[in-house]
Amino acid sequence: MVANRLPVDFAVDDEGNLDWQRSPGGLVTALEPVMQQADGAWVGWSGAPDLAHEPFEADGMLLVPVTLSADEIEGYYEGFANDTLWPLYHDVIAPPTYHRQWWDAYKRVNQRFAEAAAAQAARGAVVWVHDYQLQLVPKMLRELRPDLRIGFFDHIPFPPVELFQQLPWRKRIVEGLLGADLIGFQRGGDASNFVRAVRRLTDHPTRGSVISMGSDDATPGRRVRAAAFPISIDTQHFDELARKPEVQARAKEIRADLGDPDVVMLGVDRLDYTKGIRHRIKAYGELLQDGRIEAATTTLVQVASPSRENVGAYQELREHVEVLVGRVNGEFGEIGHSAIHYLHHSYPPVEMAALYLAADVMLVTSLRDGMNLVAKEYIAARSDLGGVLVLSEFTGAADQLAPGPLLVNPHDIDGMKDIIVAAAHMDPKEKRRRMRNLRRKVMGDDVAKWSQSFLGVLTAVPARDSYV
Ligand code: F6P
Repeated sequence: MVANRLPVDFAVDDEGNLDWQRSPGGLVTALEPVMQQADGAWVGWSGAPDLAHEPFEADGMLLVPVTLSADEIEGYYEGFANDTLWPLYHDVIAPPTYHRQWWDAYKRVNQRFAEAAAAQAARGAVVWVHDYQLQLVPKMLRELRPDLRIGFFDHIPFPPVELFQQLPWRKRIVEGLLGADLIGFQRGGDASNFVRAVRRLTDHPTRGSVISMGSDDATPGRRVRAAAFPISIDTQHFDELARKPEVQARAKEIRADLGDPDVVMLGVDRLDYTKGIRHRIKAYGELLQDGRIEAATTTLVQVASPSRENVGAYQELREHVEVLVGRVNGEFGEIGHSAIHYLHHSYPPVEMAALYLAADVMLVTSLRDGMNLVAKEYIAARSDLGGVLVLSEFTGAADQLAPGPLLVNPHDIDGMKDIIVAAAHMDPKEKRRRMRNLRRKVMGDDVAKWSQSFLGVLTAVPARDSYV
């Protein structure tokens, strides 16, 4: 496994020693058994500058930290990954910044990841590279180790070529990805956007979702497949968490702490401009203004977990969201009744499960989102068949889950207001019918299945362990 982050958080303990703790996440939960069985290694960044650490064992996996300097974090992670690629791949909701120094840092860091993976992989091994931070790794790794079977999964959208071609290094990125044998995307639309980019920007012949790579001195000819593998969550885990008596008690306590309103609405997002938080709050504020909802009887809880706080666009977003929340609360809140409960924190899964149970309406209003796993967590937590999911059309989840959720276009504020009101007043029978439908889709389709189906296709690629 090669991913930007390791599945652990590092901290310095009381004696000044470096310590680490497992960070919970669907991806690692799904891959842990596979990794343990295969004697696997996970190559990734520790999340802190200049942190050098020897590879170490954690729950049967070898974790291999890649060291990044403060300058590299600025150029590769905050710069190229999150201020160039992230906005470009999310429909240029924020303007992408193109800096040649950031590109240089991206290349350098991708090369380091490729070298670390090459040093760990056994002959003929399967290597799975993740996400937009590491798009050059497949080609770099293949050059170092032509014997490997290499898969790549893009967790975020892949943009239409008309936007992608803004990128000065577009061809290098496409060629980087084509180092893989299998390239997975969240939606069929992302896979076709990629194949269109291959056709527009390279001479490689394509047929449907298969791209033919000619042979050269170092590597023989081969085929690359681009296809959709929609990701999921550890559904069982969320379902079980939400059935626990203490979590159900906590959900009741949350509602009581909110003043036992008739309707609790919930938004849970990383504080990111792709999530449509401002659009949601604008719609909510207008509903209060129009008198279609009352702060005394309806409450919005907005969890906005801190993210990428050194990137300017994220700092601006935080300002905007906080001013907006302050304005709505100033206008419509009363003593004992905030209109919006805004929480700039992240919470452990157990508290999230309680929040999901406490919420009558879940608002997912992303302007563009690769999948949106919060929507799936909400569904997995609602074995009581309560709750209504309002879901943006611009999420990968909408492609999979329609027609169960109430779909919204977050740019259409009036349309979104009508849907929010409809969600708040939905007939309980209709609620149950929709949630039953949604659970049928989500519960059988967990992250373990996702990784099995990706790895199933990847391991079916003929072994190349005779190539050195
Ligand atoms: O959705 C893409 C992604 O990189 C996820 O893998 C990750 O959980 C999230 O964004 C947060 O990213 P970061 O590593 O920048 O905090």
